[in-house]
Amino acid sequence: MKFLVLNGPNINFLGIREPGIYGKSTYNDLMQTVTDYAVTRGVEIEFYQSNCEGALVDAIQKAYFEKIDGIIFNPAAYTHTSIAILDAVKAVSIPTVEVHLSDVDSREDYRKISYIREAAVATFSGHGFKGYTMAVDFLIDYLNGAIK
Ligand code: DQA
Repeated sequence: MKFLVLNGPNINFLGIREPGIYGKSTYNDLMQTVTDYAVTRGVEIEFYQSNCEGALVDAIQKAYFEKIDGIIFNPAAYTHTSIAILDAVKAVSIPTVEVHLSDVDSREDYRKISYIREAAVATFSGHGFKGYTMAVDFLIDYLNGAIK
């Protein structure tokens, strides 16, 4: 199995941005954590991060042509605004797990809206880096038919 770990705007600034909310670890640390975990689960991971909405749509469409099995996606602020990203996830029909480092549902009201959620097979929010490894586990089970 091959998964795309897709991250939206400002996730490349982990460790610098609001460490009280997002922690002191960096985006490189996040990639290392997910890579190490993926090895133990025997899955392949590709990473992509962009601050641009259209580039994220392009990455989702590219995943379709690359026959990516699942997407682990933190759309960051575009979670709360982007119908284009929702449409892209719906268009490719690749099982997609929504992930947020912070617990978006217990923050500002505008973060409680998630456009992507209706197209996601699961959401992990507020678990920090662990949300990404939980998403790896979920996708493996989902693709093996253990979760409907
Ligand atoms: C985030 C939460 C979003 O509301 C915010 O815009 C982000 C990160 C998270 O991982 O907690 O940039 O998706």
